[in-house]
Amino acid sequence: MSEKYIINAMDMESAGIVSSKIKKQLLGLGFDRQLVRRVAIASYEAEINVVIHSFGGYCVYEISDDKIVIKFVDTGPGIPDVKKAMTAGWSTASKKDNEAGFGAGMGFPNMLNSADIVDVDTSEKGTTVSLIFNLSK
Ligand SMILES: Nc1ncnc2c1ncn2[C@@H]1O[C@H](COP(=O)(O)OP(=O)(O)OP(=O)(O)O)[C@@H](O)[C@H]1O
Ligand SMILES: [Mg+2]
Repeated sequence: MSEKYIINAMDMESAGIVSSKIKKQLLGLGFDRQLVRRVAIASYEAEINVVIHSFGGYCVYEISDDKIVIKFVDTGPGIPDVKKAMTAGWSTASKKDNEAGFGAGMGFPNMLNSADIVDVDTSEKGTTVSLIFNLSK
């Protein structure tokens, strides 16, 4: 099965809705709670990044026999230095983002700790962050 959700930039009110929908669906489908927790943490971080750092985009996720693949796709401005962006504590968040509780520079480190694979494909035209979770048989 697969699902797609739109994510609007700067929409703090809705930030987190997509990852919480994914969490509920996976629990409803009977996936292991520990796995669902990892998916929820990683997808929340990726979703918030689309809201606060990008021009907006969407999330698409697909469950197959052996894995769950969740992609967060946005339309720019891209991440100039992915290696730096993945470093704990590194952030370009604004003062306003900090006041809203974001910008600790821990989103990517949390994704890397929670997902089996984090793949980032980025250019000025947009960023795709793919989170992959292996399903044990
Ligand atoms: N979708 C994106 N588009 C453009 N830049 C991004 C995107 N996602 C992350 N970044 C860049 O990577 C940096 C690090 O992201 P990360 O999620 O680790 O930290 P943060 O979002 O700044 O803070 P936190 O996630 O702890 O609230 C961001 O500050 C931003 O510069
Ligand atoms: Mg973040």
